[in-house]
Amino acid sequence: MKVNTAEFIISNSEVKKCPQANMPEYAFIGRSNVGKSSLINMLTNHKSLAKISGKPGKTQLINHFLINKEWYLVDLPGYGYAKVSKNLRSGFSKIIYSYIESRENLVNLFVLVDSRHDAQQIDLNFMEWLNMNGIAFSIVFTKADKLTKKKLADNIETYKKQMLVRWEEMPPYFITSSSSGMGQEEILNFIEETNKI
Ligand code: GTP
Ligand code: MG
Repeated sequence: MKVNTAEFIISNSEVKKCPQANMPEYAFIGRSNVGKSSLINMLTNHKSLAKISGKPGKTQLINHFLINKEWYLVDLPGYGYAKVSKNLRSGFSKIIYSYIESRENLVNLFVLVDSRHDAQQIDLNFMEWLNMNGIAFSIVFTKADKLTKKKLADNIETYKKQMLVRWEEMPPYFITSSSSGMGQEEILNFIEETNKI
């Protein structure tokens, strides 16, 4: 699929103020700084549609972007960032969980994990919660450009093994780099194939 138009629609902290749930929607979630906002820019061929930062905790609201006037991409705040205050942190999780639980047009949640790291407990717990709640998700390995081909392949294998301790099979996954564009076609094709509500 080609992205012809990508427009920022609204940022807000309340699910009930999100745009009407009348088009398919895909959201990006994961630890702070993992590359959610950068991935949205990469997928839409924009430099700064979604705001990015080297400092974790940049995205603090639910951000809707309308693509090709047909479906939404949603940038969410990160979880697991210790430096934001406790109140803000529990505020984030409330936003995230209420968004995920109540957004009926959500087709798929992309759970981003840094391809340089082992499986993290916080991500595994989060995926388990998604599974228990029947939320469709796939894994996106980010920042693949930071590794050699060999190290990247080794890390993905290790991650799969770590997942298979708790899961019967590996969820669908994508390997991406927002700086090289790796994975763009695969994710857009996936969206094209599932783009119905
Ligand atoms: P929060 O909004 O704070 O939760 O972070 P985020 O997950 O949206 O991360 P963001 O896209 O703001 O990126 C965080 C940092 O990682 C920025 O400095 C990006 O430039 C960098 N980054 C993101 N994706 C990639 C990538 O694929 N490759 C490289 N080399 N850097 C990346
Ligand atoms: Mg962000």
